[in-house]
Amino acid sequence: MENQNINEIYQSAMDEIGESSTSEKLQELKIKFLAKKSVLMSLLSTLGSLPPEERKEMGQKLNEVKAKIASAIEEKENQLRKEELEKKLKSETIDISLPSKRVELGGQNPFYVVKDEITDIFLNMGFEVADGPEVETDLYNFELLNIPKDHPARDMQDTFYISDSVLLRTHTSPVQAHTMQAAEGKPIRIICPGKTYRRDDDDATHSHQFAQIEGLVIDKDINIGHLKATLELFAKKMFGEKREIRLRPSYFPFTEPSVEVDITCANCNGKGCSMCKGTGYIEILGGGMVHPNVLKMNGYDPDVYSGFAFGIGIERVAILRYGIDDIRKFYQNDIRFLRQYRKKA
Ligand code: PHE
Repeated sequence: MENQNINEIYQSAMDEIGESSTSEKLQELKIKFLAKKSVLMSLLSTLGSLPPEERKEMGQKLNEVKAKIASAIEEKENQLRKEELEKKLKSETIDISLPSKRVELGGQNPFYVVKDEITDIFLNMGFEVADGPEVETDLYNFELLNIPKDHPARDMQDTFYISDSVLLRTHTSPVQAHTMQAAEGKPIRIICPGKTYRRDDDDATHSHQFAQIEGLVIDKDINIGHLKATLELFAKKMFGEKREIRLRPSYFPFTEPSVEVDITCANCNGKGCSMCKGTGYIEILGGGMVHPNVLKMNGYDPDVYSGFAFGIGIERVAILRYGIDDIRKFYQNDIRFLRQYRKKA
């Protein structure tokens, strides 16, 4: 009698599984046929009351049926899942023969390309990158660099004043003072790329905002030979192995001696042409040995330590490197200009 009952349950389970077309329905069937309170399971709990010979047979049969129903449900679940996926894929097919929208690849402004190149050259020589504020105090921009209030050198570095003592930095040199003070007497080897400002009437060669890379090395026994060798290596890496440099005496209040560094003109190879105004050389940067007053004011004993510093105009290097004729082009974002420097993929 039980057997009969079990077969009926099995049959109706199979029918219902076969007919069900959603996973919710299958979920219901699981509860109906396999949960603790289902008919099948309640039969299992009555096994104990059967005579031992029948108990074993009946138990096996019940478990067999239970396993069959469970696997039938699972199979159906898989089938439904597959069908659903196929339906979804079909509804989401895209027409790959349609022409796509063109994605325009952007490019780096040549200013940044050159800034990164200069930075890399010095990183490879063992320099680290330092940072400093663009809004500076008079103290750091001038005083701590040996440019007191009444110094005539201030005339060439008029800038935008926020107040009498706060201004937009006119060069990256204040980073020298910040770095020295933070290093507290330890050796230094840094560069600092950054924006600088001056009150200027903008034209092809002047811009009220421009950028420099400052360099500063301080240690025992640093001499001008180190400055020359460092800048020569930089010039050759940046402009080509054939370029020679020359140092000309110059003046900056924060270096002594001070130099202006020229490279041989790439256009005429030093012979003299219109690009170098007949001199064979083109000026690329300023530098010198750190002035003893600057060392002293920023915590270094000039009798023990010495150092060199330099300041490179980034736009100037980019102009020479790419033959650009107007500094304003770096800032105007004219796509016709920028496009010429786009790296080919
Ligand atoms: N700060 C100087 C300038 O802007 C450049 C410079 C830097 C010169 C470091 C000497 C040493 O003109």
